[in-house]
Amino acid sequence: MGVSRRNLLLGGLGLLLAGLVGRVGHQRLQSGPDGHNSYFNALQQALKDAGIVHRRLIIDRARMAANLQRLVERIRPQYHYRVVAKSLPSIELLDWVMRQADTRRLMLFNEPFLRQVAAELPHSDILLGKPLTAGAAHYFYQHFEATNGFDPDAQLQWLIDSPARLADYAALADSLQRPLQVSLEIDIGLHRGGVQDTGTAAEMLTRLREHPWLRFSGFMGYEAHIPKAPGGTGRNFDRAMARYNAFVQTAEAVLEQGVDELTLNTGGSTTYDLYPGADVRPNELSVGSALVQPTDFDLPTLAEHQPAAFIAAPLLKVIDGLQLPGAPGLGRLMGLWDRRYEQTFFIDGGYWKAVPESPASLTTNDLYGRSSNQEMLNGPADITLARDDFLFFRPTQSEVVLQDFGELLIYDSDTGSFPERWAPFPRR
Ligand SMILES: Cc1ncc(COP(=O)(O)O)c(C=O)c1O
Repeated sequence: MGVSRRNLLLGGLGLLLAGLVGRVGHQRLQSGPDGHNSYFNALQQALKDAGIVHRRLIIDRARMAANLQRLVERIRPQYHYRVVAKSLPSIELLDWVMRQADTRRLMLFNEPFLRQVAAELPHSDILLGKPLTAGAAHYFYQHFEATNGFDPDAQLQWLIDSPARLADYAALADSLQRPLQVSLEIDIGLHRGGVQDTGTAAEMLTRLREHPWLRFSGFMGYEAHIPKAPGGTGRNFDRAMARYNAFVQTAEAVLEQGVDELTLNTGGSTTYDLYPGADVRPNELSVGSALVQPTDFDLPTLAEHQPAAFIAAPLLKVIDGLQLPGAPGLGRLMGLWDRRYEQTFFIDGGYWKAVPESPASLTTNDLYGRSSNQEMLNGPADITLARDDFLFFRPTQSEVVLQDFGELLIYDSDTGSFPERWAPFPRR
């Protein structure tokens, strides 16, 4: 007890100091004094009207549509749009985005999703966003059913990151006796693997050209480091594109033909805005997360995107004040010092990759501890929410989080209803 009590006291002291230095959260208190703002009040009412009683993941369709429109208006006609499936992990969600954006291009990241997409979205043009083992590729050919029109020979590009993996896929193609389209993952500065230099790329392209079953389908060069790495966004962008161009020129030299008709993929949510108007070789951009705008994507390049995905958690208990086990008085002191600790809430679930969103003044309590079963949150005394209301959270990322709450509730804010419910991919 001694240690944990000491930890509690030290932690409490730390929180008090943080409050003293910054009066953390004071600004945020102004935005939602008594509970939810009108947007979240309406959303809460819609949940109650629809008889929702469990924690759920909500997608605001109008907001997502506005994000998508912003994206496609910005990048077209210079670039094609490829939808990143891991960040929008639901067949119906992908289908909606593909229809709205009029694109067949998808980026997928694992074999089970690949098989499901091939079966349920058979018109897709698929590029793998990471290299799968040749064993997983073999498994796909053994288990995928060719009854619905999806033709992997023409609609699927495997991703190859090294000469060794190219040899694996060459052996697979030989054993299957069927054509495999392969694109090369190139390292344009992210340093997450991929082909490092044009000499290696030239050897691989020569091998590809000579192989009876393998077909070169393009390059994938991801560059999420550009806005984050030291050196400045502009310089990092120019360097990455110089590397990309060198790989493209190598391909044109080895293959003795232009490759502009092939897949020249790059980009992501955090970088797509850098491309419009740039004189570069990539011809398509992959984007997923920016359509629902989780908090990790709150960046200047995405300033025009609105949050469109929220977790709604049923409020189980509302308790006056804050009580910390084994430290009588400390919770009260914290509440006196920082208004965010005046009241205590327990919700169904918690500890997600998400941050409290509404009421705006909510805070998690690291001192008490996080819980996936029944998490404590704190807020000022003037939050008037009651048992059976909902608290709202914003995911920090959409990948995986969207798969944790059963069917996605698609929210229509005009009618205050959920006209559709979309099944996420199973968690794997
Ligand atoms: C290869 C690749 N391209 C693009 C993306 C961009 O995805 P998002 O737009 O969801 O950030 C990712 C994300 O990890 C990726 O791995």
